[in-house]
Amino acid sequence: MKRTLGTCYYPEHWPEKIWAEDARRMADLGLTWVRIGEFAWSRLEPTPGNLQFDWLDRAIATLTDAGLKVVLGTPTATPPRWMLTKHPDMLAVDADGHARKFGSRRHYCFSHDGYREESVRITCLLAERFGQRVAAWQTDNEYGCHDTTISYSKSAEHAFRDWLAQKYQSPDALNRAWGNVFWSMEYASFEDIDLPNLTVTEPNPAHVLDFRRFTSDQVARFNQAQVDAIRAHSDAPISHNYMGRVTEFDHFDVGRQMEIATWDSYPLGFLEDRVGASPEDQRHYARQGDPDFQAFHHDLYRAVGTDGRWWVMEQQPGPVNWAPSNPAPLPGMVRFWTWEAFAHGAECVAYFRWRQAPFAQEQHHAGLLRPDSVEAEAFAEAAHVASDLQDMPEVERVQSPVALVFDYASQWAWEAQPQGIGNDYFQLVFDVYKGLRQLGLSIDIIPPDTASLDGYKLVLAPGAITLTDALKAAIANTQAQVVLGPRTNAKTHALSIPVPLPPAIKNLDVTVSRVETLRPDSPEAFADGGHYQLWREQIETTADVIEHDTQNRPLMVRAHHLSYLAAWPDTTAIQRILTRAAIAAGLDPIDLPKDIRIRDTGRTRFVFNHSPDSVEFEGQTLPPAGVFWH
Ligand code: GAL
Repeated sequence: MKRTLGTCYYPEHWPEKIWAEDARRMADLGLTWVRIGEFAWSRLEPTPGNLQFDWLDRAIATLTDAGLKVVLGTPTATPPRWMLTKHPDMLAVDADGHARKFGSRRHYCFSHDGYREESVRITCLLAERFGQRVAAWQTDNEYGCHDTTISYSKSAEHAFRDWLAQKYQSPDALNRAWGNVFWSMEYASFEDIDLPNLTVTEPNPAHVLDFRRFTSDQVARFNQAQVDAIRAHSDAPISHNYMGRVTEFDHFDVGRQMEIATWDSYPLGFLEDRVGASPEDQRHYARQGDPDFQAFHHDLYRAVGTDGRWWVMEQQPGPVNWAPSNPAPLPGMVRFWTWEAFAHGAECVAYFRWRQAPFAQEQHHAGLLRPDSVEAEAFAEAAHVASDLQDMPEVERVQSPVALVFDYASQWAWEAQPQGIGNDYFQLVFDVYKGLRQLGLSIDIIPPDTASLDGYKLVLAPGAITLTDALKAAIANTQAQVVLGPRTNAKTHALSIPVPLPPAIKNLDVTVSRVETLRPDSPEAFADGGHYQLWREQIETTADVIEHDTQNRPLMVRAHHLSYLAAWPDTTAIQRILTRAAIAAGLDPIDLPKDIRIRDTGRTRFVFNHSPDSVEFEGQTLPPAGVFWH
């Protein structure tokens, strides 16, 4: 497949007389795709029912006449001010009960029926008018951005009660599932059930987990309504642009509704507050970004897209405006990030945005052009990629040897019941991912309902708190080495402790008899080096002990192809544990230099240097931001 480049463009921000010149420059740069429209509602419908689509008609014509393909975004992330007058109760409400006010974006509540109808209405109108003229669609923009997925509004309360009634059928069944006899929390009617915020002390975790499942379903429902509206008028593929470390809704559920998953990659923006990097690493990677965070999401969204189809819809092109600090990337980094995405299978990488906006919230956010239309630094790097692509090797789509389960519901369950500060499911999975990458392994992230593990040599499901029946059967049937724990299969669907005690895995005699959590500043030692931190389980077992603590208590055991890890290892311990598992799986782990990462795609190996300095690897000197393939 031919890899392509694109950009995000806002014709409504610029005088119409420069559109044609912009389009020509995009095409000359070697771009194929241009995404437009996703925030333009106030210009498409300035007052209720007053549709002004002619300008968009002309914008699409200008872009397509220049040979570009248009991705049209539905404008529903930015309902105009009149919408609030029409639906005063449409706002999302935060956990403290405060409405999220108008004046930025994403202020709607997913459960508001009136707003969902408005969103379907505008989507239908756009699809009718442009369905045959655009080459792809984007629904809304970044579900989950600015913490707007979880809403404690009246609409959400009403819809949640309805969702619970459908799920449990009777209050008694709900009371039993949640264990509401505890603290006399029993309900006589679904109408009595509140949203789980503003309680005196923690709400029942089962109540919280169902609310989180409901919240996720509301996002999927909102998206499906737009998808249906588009499909009625257009055959063009549909996508949504997801984000980094947003876990409030199940992306696999939403992804199944559409052809393409895309995500918005801001490596420097993410580094300080999303990656979980140490202060030292934050300084070291300040101009490159974390060496694994982007790759993790590339691999995740390859699994979210139908048949593995995925893009980067917004690629950071220079300093952004919204992180705690906003440095410029190292020279070459924009090209590097683009190649990293291609190496992980991206069909397209689109740069955000075409021209830096001199007004409103994102004035200091770089684009490919400066506000005066002069080429910004990233322009030449995009041109470099466009020329690389001329003789680019085919990035084959092959199954990776390693599979890592990622389960959104486990994130919600860990959040509902962390049992101690710092215990975060995403972070545990990401630590394992980083460890695998440090060994030079290429990884597929797989959903929790994966029914076959055929073709994988090593499978890991750390922290997946309730294994699905499909995955349990796949684990029982696979020849792969499987690493489970900590906290794998630890709870029932209703977030109770099952009896027999966890993890209850066939052919693996392990019983978690007690759990404890450690202070973040008090890790304890593995006998063979490294430490465990935060989470530790006491286990009873007859399996072979392969890791233990300094008092000879088991920390990891193995029986046949199954292993169970009873603690959260640090980087040193995880390297040893994963190396052993990889060798047992017949893989060939490499101890890579700290900042080198590789990605194998069939015949081609891509090598990336994430260091701010030159690094020697495979007989080559890789400069900072260096990438090569062979
Ligand atoms: C994304 C968003 C864009 C823009 C960008 C700035 O999260 O989708 O609209 O705000 O961030 O980096």
